[in-house]
Amino acid sequence: MTIGIGLLGLGTVGAGVAAILASPEGRHPLVAELELKRVAVRDLSRPRPLNLAPELLSTCAEAVIDDPAVDIVVEVMGGLEPARSLILRAIAAGKPVVTANKAVIARYGEEIAAAAAAQGVYVLIEAAVGGGIPIIEPLKQSLGGNRIQRVSGIINGTTNYILSRMADEGAAYADVLADAQRLGYAEADPAADVQGGDAADKIAILAGLAYGGPVPRAGIASEGIDRLDARDVAYAAQLGFVVKLVATAERLGAGTEAPGEPVQLDVRVHPTLLPKQHPLAGVHGVNNAILVEGDPVGQVMFYGPGAGAGPTASAVVADILNIAGIRQVGGAEAGLDPLLAASSWRRCELVDGSTSRHRNYVRLHTRDQAGVIGRIGTCFGAAGVSIQSIVQFEAREGDGNTDQSGEGPSQEDPSAGPCAEIVVITHEVQESHFRQALAAIENLSEVTTVAACLRTL
Ligand code: NAP
Ligand code: HSE
Repeated sequence: MTIGIGLLGLGTVGAGVAAILASPEGRHPLVAELELKRVAVRDLSRPRPLNLAPELLSTCAEAVIDDPAVDIVVEVMGGLEPARSLILRAIAAGKPVVTANKAVIARYGEEIAAAAAAQGVYVLIEAAVGGGIPIIEPLKQSLGGNRIQRVSGIINGTTNYILSRMADEGAAYADVLADAQRLGYAEADPAADVQGGDAADKIAILAGLAYGGPVPRAGIASEGIDRLDARDVAYAAQLGFVVKLVATAERLGAGTEAPGEPVQLDVRVHPTLLPKQHPLAGVHGVNNAILVEGDPVGQVMFYGPGAGAGPTASAVVADILNIAGIRQVGGAEAGLDPLLAASSWRRCELVDGSTSRHRNYVRLHTRDQAGVIGRIGTCFGAAGVSIQSIVQFEAREGDGNTDQSGEGPSQEDPSAGPCAEIVVITHEVQESHFRQALAAIENLSEVTTVAACLRTL
């Protein structure tokens, strides 16, 4: 029996899905049962990478959803609206939905899950996180018996591609970003990638699944790579680290909350220095990796291509097959995945990051004077921050004006004598103590700028 597919979007991901459906040979036999019935696009005149009968295409997404020949709606158009409303329309019509839209799921997942539960239809989201990596189903199903302590990972392909090429080739940020866009890795507005918002959407989704309840997306602290200075990537390499955009969701406490007690989580996204031997440090290019730490499983790492047409379409089609398989055994109205049903949700609360503990990398511009390193050390010591290493690099012309944003600190006064660039790596310390030390350092007359400050694992 043929299963009709309605595709909302025929861009990078949509075209990848259509290509798989058009060539079922050698794949799971159910792929041959899937038939692309209607496709919604924004611009009918845009050239497409594959030949589709023109009558399949429409600019009316509602007509695609409402078409009786469409059994499963696949939303791959992106953006918040009309994507959210279209997903809800499909659910209201009793049609299961597959979506790759992490922006919508991170913000409206609760509303969508409730609507789906009320209608008894599936909404599957494997492609929303990690591109081709199976991570949603493993977190929902295979690891369900664990107390998850931490989920951390590299979950934005665009920024990992940019950072890898900056580190390996010394490539310029803007050039590599343009390549990532050309390759179909970046979001329609790449600000979501480089400013950390896309990774924050994804970690919100992963944390919701790992800890069993919706995580407030608006409360997730995120910082991207758009203000990262290439010299910090270079200094990090000299000190034995790589810089990656890491997203983390960490549970506070032992994970033995009483029934009704909320799970306290520290969820964040920021550029992070990883020691070269860390499992995430070897993840290069567009690849993603997600490290799940739980009791009793220990550490499990998921790795693979995190963006692009083929990998993402692989995840979308897997979800379609999941639903198609359930329909074939007569379970079409089986309802939303029971693990996502609101009745079993736990309350997740985000904590203030000032109590979190981690190492830090700080780059300072100072006057090159006797005693300056000692005074910096005294400020750290007074706040209870222990220093792991302190290195002086030769200051170069233009120091202090080189960050990506172009909003670097003002030029230093050349009449004040020679300048130095000092990099400090601290031992693990509570964030509030580190901030206290930094405030004192900023007030030292020899310190002209705190030029960079990055977390370190
Ligand atoms: P894309 O290349 O920009 O494609 C978007 C498609 O949606 C285009 O075909 C566009 O039509 C169509 N569209 C947009 N607004 C529409 C509207 N109002 N009505 C009808 N059609 C509309 O985007 P993408 O990279 O494929 O991403 C799609 C979704 O997948 C996003 O949610 C993204 O976050 C997610 N995702 C992407 C990747 C990736 O590697 N690219 C990976 C994982 C998840 P036109 O072609 O006529 O402009
Ligand atoms: N823009 C996203 C990324 C696509 O680069 O990871 C995959 O979700």
